[in-house]
Amino acid sequence: MDCALLLLLSLWALIGTASLQASGSCPERLLGEERRRSCPRHCKSDRDCGNKRQCLCDGQCGLSCVAPGRTCPWPLPHSENSEVHLLSPTHSFSALLEVRCKQGFALPSGLDVTIRRCQGDRQWSGDEPICTEVETPEPAAVKTCLLPEDVTDIFDIQGDATVGTAIRYRCLSGSDVVGSSENFCQDNQTWQYPHPICKKVYCEPPREVEQGYVVAVHKTEYEVGFDIHYLCKKNFLLDGPQKVTCLSNGSWSASPPYCRARCLISAVRSRVVIGGVKRWPFDITDAMVPHGENVTFYCKHPHKQCSFTTTQTCFDGNLQPPSCYLEPTWLQYQLFPHRLVSEVEACEPDDVE
Ligand SMILES: *[C@@H]1O[C@H](CO)[C@@H](O)[C@H](O)[C@H]1NC(C)=O
Ligand SMILES: *[C@@H]1O[C@H](CO)[C@@H](O)[C@H](O)[C@H]1NC(C)=O
Repeated sequence: MDCALLLLLSLWALIGTASLQASGSCPERLLGEERRRSCPRHCKSDRDCGNKRQCLCDGQCGLSCVAPGRTCPWPLPHSENSEVHLLSPTHSFSALLEVRCKQGFALPSGLDVTIRRCQGDRQWSGDEPICTEVETPEPAAVKTCLLPEDVTDIFDIQGDATVGTAIRYRCLSGSDVVGSSENFCQDNQTWQYPHPICKKVYCEPPREVEQGYVVAVHKTEYEVGFDIHYLCKKNFLLDGPQKVTCLSNGSWSASPPYCRARCLISAVRSRVVIGGVKRWPFDITDAMVPHGENVTFYCKHPHKQCSFTTTQTCFDGNLQPPSCYLEPTWLQYQLFPHRLVSEVEACEPDDVE
């Protein structure tokens, strides 16, 4: 039960004895409980007590002949382990006294406070309160799993390795944890898994890039964070990342790029459309277009004197003219330049199948 509540109850019981008496009722003499050696003479009214005493309620002695002016011992001898406070203005009959044990001490009852009442026999009620030191229970030894020094030397470990809890490993060197990065301290104080190890991560050399340069020293393995930059030889176009980085899992951030070749425009005696401009191939440097460029060729309508277009894309040196394209002969080119396929009218949309 709560100490404060017990105190309240005992206070109520003690005060109750006095107020009960005022209302004319007082408990029957009930010896034994309070271990009083003796009780004053029992009475029913003041007449039973002569002129110096009154018939008053004296706790468990019940109505007794007491001299109300009589006092109980006060002050009490100093006690090391407790503090005593008088709760009433005087220390005469029915006065109340609180005995409170100091921090860490308690009465044999286990409580740290008790109330005593000044009895008719000039004694404070109850046994002499003795506060004794409370034995604080030793904190139960915390069981842990062993973490050897060679493990704590290489890992930053989260968790306290107590039984029933998990820990997490992180390599102090920043390298990879190889094995389980989490472990569990079991009831029998052993680890669920073997301790992991730390392994430095490297990236394998990436594949060679044909027609390209690597702007880095060639190595057999690359450290995490290492960048490789790529350049292509003249006239080759970089297709892919300009840079790859060695990631912490040993992979490169991307596949290396390709260096793509230019394409020769195989048409010579017809104009073509490149970048929206209709041009003679010989007007173009080397008559070549970069990788990825679209080249629009003119084809002759099989039956009519008109042309339609077909677009081909240069891919890494390959640019096939469409199958419908017919290279004009030297004579056609020289004698009838205005009748060349790229120079005649465009067919009506309906003409083109
Ligand atoms: C390495 O990490 C990258 C990015 O986090 C991921 O895309 C890649 O798949 C991983 N590679 C391997 C082998 O786990
Ligand atoms: C070539 O044509 C394709 C398909 O129409 C288009 O996606 C691409 O962007 C073009 N390339 C260039 C260099 O204009």
